[in-house]
Amino acid sequence: MFITFEGVEGSGKTTQTGLLKDFLLERGYKVTLTREPGWGAVGKLIRRMLLEERDLELDPLAELCLFCADRVQHVRDFIKPKLEQGEIVICDRFNDSTLVYQGYGRKLDLDLVKKLAKSSALGLEPQLTILLNLPVKLGLSRLKKRSGKTKMDEEPVEFHERIRQAYVFIAQKEPGRIRVVNAAGDIKEIQEEIRSIVLECLSK
Ligand code: TMP
Repeated sequence: MFITFEGVEGSGKTTQTGLLKDFLLERGYKVTLTREPGWGAVGKLIRRMLLEERDLELDPLAELCLFCADRVQHVRDFIKPKLEQGEIVICDRFNDSTLVYQGYGRKLDLDLVKKLAKSSALGLEPQLTILLNLPVKLGLSRLKKRSGKTKMDEEPVEFHERIRQAYVFIAQKEPGRIRVVNAAGDIKEIQEEIRSIVLECLSK
């Protein structure tokens, strides 16, 4: 089973995916936790280009291609083999991030973004996507307490507002796959809700 997590910066994906992984391991499932961008040797280089090198002025189209290049390698060499071995793969961000950040955030042509994002997933689609939804300002204020901020984190607040609205919009269009969880509250309560959604999905 392939599960993805999405959300604005500071929405708690790292914490919640980690807790979910431990919970599923305890229940006897084989679980792999991964994230985009940045898997493997190619992914690490791409992540550095995209998010760390402040002096690189990437064109939005080049940025789109790099996120997609990262995904192709990740899906082909890591995610698909793990799924074929029967594992549950939890991925922190996947092609909804591309649609939302490069399509709605950078305002690239939506059809082009959709096409490239879809192609980069090599036919793979998440069975379940958890959208951690919270006000942008709350997410950004959580980031302030953290080291290792990325170039994307430093975009203006209006950019992040577009991201949040786009996530809510795409979730309304695909309610069967994308489940919205209020991420503003208590970590444990949020995790409880995520667990019940995942268990329901696993029992189908
Ligand atoms: P993160 O690992 O801290 O979530 O940082 C990844 C950043 O990259 C985040 O700001 C979202 C952004 N991103 C895109 O813009 N497009 C994509 O396709 C993906 C996977 C991430």
